[in-house]
Amino acid sequence: MHFQWTHDLDTGIPEIDEQNRRVADFINALDEARQTADRERVGEVLEHLLDFVCNHFMFEEQLMEKAGYEFLSAHERIHEVFAKRLADFRGRYAKGEDVTEQLLTMLQNWVEIHIKEEDKRYADSVQQVIADEGGRTWVTGLVKKLFG
Ligand SMILES: [Fe+2]
Repeated sequence: MHFQWTHDLDTGIPEIDEQNRRVADFINALDEARQTADRERVGEVLEHLLDFVCNHFMFEEQLMEKAGYEFLSAHERIHEVFAKRLADFRGRYAKGEDVTEQLLTMLQNWVEIHIKEEDKRYADSVQQVIADEGGRTWVTGLVKKLFG
């Protein structure tokens, strides 16, 4: 299984799409670790994923807030639940459990449901506030701040 990003997953916001594409990389890295039964690698991917997701959610939430997106709090809640589930996986992994299969399923569902459906809903309102020069400068600054 190799997960291939397709354009129907794009929101049209370049910074968001670049970040969402990284989820595909995580899926492939995990799948590779699963195939080679590399437990240590699973732990590494999980750590990177947690770190990435935290910054990515902050990024998205600030964009939605700037846009005055009306379903911001519902979207934040979905992020919160996802982050908590990831943290649970980390805890179970630390106790010696093999969480690879379940984690892969959760990430695949995340792409299908969250990226493909829920992220797209804020795209129009966010596009409007980042289209002009001031908005572009603000987004670039935010990317630097959160992702270095
Ligand atoms: Fe999101």
